[in-house]
Amino acid sequence: MKRVFSGIKPSGHLTLGNYLGAVRRWAAVDQYRADALFCIVDLHALTVEHDPARVRRLSRQAATLLLAAGLDPERCTVFVQSHVDEHARLSYLLECVATDGEMRRMVQYKEKAARERDRGGSVRLSLLTYPVLMAADILAYGTDEVPVGEDQTQHVELARDLAVRFNQRYGRTFVVPRATHPEVAARVMNLREPGSKMGKSDDVGPGIVYLLDEPDVVRRKVMRAVTDSGREVVHDSAGQPGIANLLEILAACTGGDPADLSGVHASYGALKRDTAEAVVELLRPVQARHKELCADPGYVAGVLRDGAERARAMARPTVDAAYRAIGLLPAVSDTGADTGVDTGAVLNAAR
Ligand code: TYM
Repeated sequence: MKRVFSGIKPSGHLTLGNYLGAVRRWAAVDQYRADALFCIVDLHALTVEHDPARVRRLSRQAATLLLAAGLDPERCTVFVQSHVDEHARLSYLLECVATDGEMRRMVQYKEKAARERDRGGSVRLSLLTYPVLMAADILAYGTDEVPVGEDQTQHVELARDLAVRFNQRYGRTFVVPRATHPEVAARVMNLREPGSKMGKSDDVGPGIVYLLDEPDVVRRKVMRAVTDSGREVVHDSAGQPGIANLLEILAACTGGDPADLSGVHASYGALKRDTAEAVVELLRPVQARHKELCADPGYVAGVLRDGAERARAMARPTVDAAYRAIGLLPAVSDTGADTGVDTGAVLNAAR
């Protein structure tokens, strides 16, 4: 069975982009066809200025929403990245394989670092090394496929490159993963700025539909989406990006093809009304289930505890193998057995 791994960063409230580009497919397809792990990647949320209490809250909320969206802990593993030490352990080894030039070429780094500098802030080193941690997330699990939105393609390519390089230098240790994308809505754009991705950490709230937005808020945001100067409702991403984005969203919600929706609507207003209702209907069951799960926080905590335990057991052998392959001396127990862990504890016990 294929191994699938993907993650979501608790750096803001989950958006329609996250749902259509990733989460919906995890729940509807990936958990049924693969041995799948889905991770709330909280360490990644620390790469920019953050409020500790908010990260904790958003992590819990993301986990609850993943379950509300239909991830079934009987079928897949749902867990929090910082609960499994293997991610950080492996990340350092991969930093010893990656180059700084490779990191500086990452588009998301360049964009986010520029934004941070424009605000007069400093750029955290972890923002630069972020893609290496992401590669560790993926490679620790022997992942074959990484279902993500289009914006993550370059990062998954880096994970591939690092896996190949590590294997060539130190012997075959990692499976070489590949990204998969949804056919429609792999890149949902901001409704107010159709030239930019609908991103959860962005400041431009009115153009972002959040999964927990009330129906009237969703309607208002969609009705106020920026449209283009033409009049015809056709799918033309270059010429009419605002309309193309609405057509993509509508097609993704109704299971159609955006090109087939060209010419169906007599006006921009009609397209917006249809899109707004489709989004409201799409989110309705997720929001209802989210409300139920919020009343049972013990259930969510239990899912995350079990998930972390399963994830740890899956990651550990691969990460231990990488430690040995790269030249680190294994820790040895007093019986002489290679424990692969915690030299400090072994030494203390021997004193
Ligand atoms: P994140 O948290 O930004 O997004 C989570 C998932 O949602 C997708 N996505 C979108 N898809 C379509 N349109 C959009 N506007 C949109 N916005 C977000 C993302 O492509 C992603 O699939 N670096 C990752 C998290 C991560 C990860 C990993 C992913 C860390 N380690 C290992 C996969 C495997 C990120 O910031 O995703």
